[in-house]
Amino acid sequence: MAWDPTQYLRFESQRLRPAVELLQRVRDDAPARVVDLGCGTGNTTALLTDRWPGAHVVGVDNSSAMLAVAEHDHPDGTWVQSSIDQWIPDAPFDIVYSNAAIHWLDDHASLLPRLVAHITAGGTFAMQVPDNFSEPTHQAAIDAAREGPWAEVLGPLIRPWPVLQPVEYTRLLAPLCAGVDVWATSYVQVLTGDNPVAQWTKGAALRPYLSALDDDAADAFFADYAARILAAYPPEPDRTTLLPFRRVFVVATVH
Ligand SMILES: C[S@@+](CC[C@H](N)C(=O)[O-])C[C@H]1O[C@@H](n2cnc3c(N)ncnc32)[C@H](O)[C@@H]1O
Repeated sequence: MAWDPTQYLRFESQRLRPAVELLQRVRDDAPARVVDLGCGTGNTTALLTDRWPGAHVVGVDNSSAMLAVAEHDHPDGTWVQSSIDQWIPDAPFDIVYSNAAIHWLDDHASLLPRLVAHITAGGTFAMQVPDNFSEPTHQAAIDAAREGPWAEVLGPLIRPWPVLQPVEYTRLLAPLCAGVDVWATSYVQVLTGDNPVAQWTKGAALRPYLSALDDDAADAFFADYAARILAAYPPEPDRTTLLPFRRVFVVATVH
């Protein structure tokens, strides 16, 4: 699947806010080793470096396109190309942080304990994932994928939503951690421009579908999707468009 850093960064400030709010809940004062899983273009990794300038901070991502931007924008950073579920560090980390990435991986019930196993005693696991699968942003993509001439190609790419309920993350991590803090926030994003919700999704949730089609088919699929989204998220009288966006946060202190 190909990521498009430019499209992703069109909504950079809105996408960064939950990353900042997640980081504010991490209490560690002086971690020695910090990792950003699914670091993308390195924006979230830079937040970690700014917060803990004395730490060794590593960004991990499996997209060469996203890492190329990270390396260009942050040449002093340490970047590792790996899938999160294949990632095996050579030494444990004091903080494993991940913003808007772990929902791209399945089976959180087995993945999260494996990630927590890479954290030092007293260290922190901090994760934020979207929880918007039932919203039109995602359901319209599934409908468009199933109903167009591309259905044979896109149908198999429709995946079950892996994000658990907040209480399930608490139950999952409680036996492994001294403290587990889980919460959800629903942001109302006020967007500008023509059909901005379709543009937002084009930078993230639509990537698997767009990457699987040739350019003409991808354009046609996006036009079909964008029409559905415009109907679901019409502009307000002041020409802004409102996008409700729920996210789940987990901050856990490891035994
Ligand atoms: C929505 S972006 C978030 C980037 C960054 N954390 C931020 O908040 O701006 C999701 C990132 O997760 C990465 N990603 C998705 N699946 C991954 C996997 N299995 N292993 C590593 N990275 C993955 C993508 O390449 C992408 O850079």
